[in-house]
Amino acid sequence: MIIKSSDYAISAVKEEQYPKDNLPEIALAGRSNVGKSSLINSLLGRKNLARTSSQPGKTQTLNFYVVNQDFYLVDVPGYGYAKVSQVQRQKFGEMIQDYLETRENLQGLILLTDSRHEPTKDDVAMYNYALYLNLPILVICTKIDKVKKSQENKVIANLNKKLDLAYDNVSVLTYSAVKKTHVKEVWDWIEQNL
Ligand code: GTP
Ligand code: MG
Repeated sequence: MIIKSSDYAISAVKEEQYPKDNLPEIALAGRSNVGKSSLINSLLGRKNLARTSSQPGKTQTLNFYVVNQDFYLVDVPGYGYAKVSQVQRQKFGEMIQDYLETRENLQGLILLTDSRHEPTKDDVAMYNYALYLNLPILVICTKIDKVKKSQENKVIANLNKKLDLAYDNVSVLTYSAVKKTHVKEVWDWIEQNL
């Protein structure tokens, strides 16, 4: 993928606010602080296009970034952050569910997990939900730069303990936003699914 342009387009909390130009979309999902916004920045070679934070709960709306005026990457609030109030969590849940279940432009979902840990209960639920929606899924084990070289080959095995990855519509990659590991492979997957 040659990136000619990347821009913030719009933020949305409900359907009326989604972009209306009918371009295809690839969305991200994952625990708060796992690195969704950082993945967008590192894929696009931009430092601060998507706002990131060392504190979980940074992204609070669906944020649409338009690439090459051709498709959108959609940043999504993270789940599983204990300090978010019950009411807010329910709002986020409904916002994400409404988007994933109704958006016809949605071509695929990138689900991020942390390479250092086994998938959480929420990760398992999100993955099974994505399978149920029958979307092309790319599971990305990110922050691989934080895993010792000798442990790297265990990361996918750990993932397999909790997620049944043997589906035609499921792909898996390790990733690092810091070292830019597998940027090309992620773009290849995106290109295949647009
Ligand atoms: P929410 O918006 O709260 O859902 O979080 P998020 O998933 O968008 O996470 P974000 O991209 O803001 O990153 C969270 C923290 O993890 C930041 O401090 C990032 O610098 C760091 N981070 C993200 N990706 C990587 C990575 O690949 N390697 C390392 N070492 N740190 C990373
Ligand atoms: Mg974010």
